[in-house]
Amino acid sequence: MTVTLTEAAGAAHSRIYALGAARGQNAVPNADIIEPINSSDEWIQKRTGVITRVRADKDTSAIDLAAVAAAQALERSGVAPSDVDAVIVATISNPKQTPSVSAIVADRIGANPAAAYDMNAACAGYCYGIAQADALIRTGAAKYVVVIGAEKLSDIIDPTDRSISFLLGDGAGAAVLGPSDTPGVSKTQWGSDGSKADLVGMNATLTQFRDGEAEWPTLRQEGPSVFRWAVWDMVKVAQKTLDEAGVRPEDLAAFIPHQANMRIVSEFAKQLGLPDTVAIADDITTTGNTSAASVPLAAHRLLEEHPEISGGLALQIGFGAGLVFAAQVVVLP
Ligand SMILES: CC(C)(COP(=O)(O)OP(=O)(O)OC[C@H]1O[C@@H](n2cnc3c(N)ncnc32)[C@H](O)[C@@H]1OP(=O)(O)O)[C@@H](O)C(=O)NCCC(=O)NCCS
Repeated sequence: MTVTLTEAAGAAHSRIYALGAARGQNAVPNADIIEPINSSDEWIQKRTGVITRVRADKDTSAIDLAAVAAAQALERSGVAPSDVDAVIVATISNPKQTPSVSAIVADRIGANPAAAYDMNAACAGYCYGIAQADALIRTGAAKYVVVIGAEKLSDIIDPTDRSISFLLGDGAGAAVLGPSDTPGVSKTQWGSDGSKADLVGMNATLTQFRDGEAEWPTLRQEGPSVFRWAVWDMVKVAQKTLDEAGVRPEDLAAFIPHQANMRIVSEFAKQLGLPDTVAIADDITTTGNTSAASVPLAAHRLLEEHPEISGGLALQIGFGAGLVFAAQVVVLP
């Protein structure tokens, strides 16, 4: 006898119901970090846009930040924690390989026994998570999903490193997604290029550290190469995302790219031909680059500063270590 399996039945569409945010407690101005890298407040502001970055207290972990952001997003969404089916945490900075951040966060926010998993897609992690949540909801694998980008990058920086450490901050941003009658997440453009893995990432392995062959591993990048990749290849990804979503620049309410460097953000806006009516995220100026948390934190701030963009379309794009990237147009909560 042939058995026909019963498949999950999904929703027609998904959308973001609400966002939540948590930032490191301490605003660290450029003046506090320039000495070991022989830099200046003026150089950092001019070349990156960063004025201060937020860094968490020693006793605050990425898990703590993630739980605060997720709880806020859940509360604003109106979804009961017990109705959450999956918690996805994008992170590259949890100092413990296992257990996952997501399982602990799911428990802390009252979503136990939701499915929970971490993923490493660096600064594209949150946009990867949105793609997954959308797919899970539309296939029926989940009804409500919490996607979190959470980082405590200050644990993996080298104060003497001129390539990336001075840009980095700590924080978490979260989104609650659920079923929708109308499309709320466009087709995601995503991909990777592992042939360029050496351009950005950790400078050593934990085993090298254990064996005394390296210092505590910290982040490094080949800044100019990553910069060129971002303003050349990533702009094309952003354009393709708009084209395949059927969205013109003038249809956007907001542009929320990864907060890597304000010069990259401005170059994106110029090349995409975004009109003045589009609100452009500039959270990097006071938060710094928070990798997986960067896009949701920037979105959260933009909605606070421009409540009128609520319900409008936002183009979001993340890109970073891997190399990896992901972009989609979403309806803002
Ligand atoms: C890191 C980054 C800010 C460096 O800026 P840049 O304009 O590319 O700087 P360059 O490396 O070309 O160096 C230009 C000059 O500034 C100096 N410089 C480099 N880093 C410096 C720093 N942190 N402080 C002061 N001076 C610095 C260099 O020595 C060089 O000096 P010179 O002209 O006398 O030789 C920039 O490359 C960047 O943001 N890259 C992309 C980041 C990104 O997208 N990351 C994504 C993954 S998170």
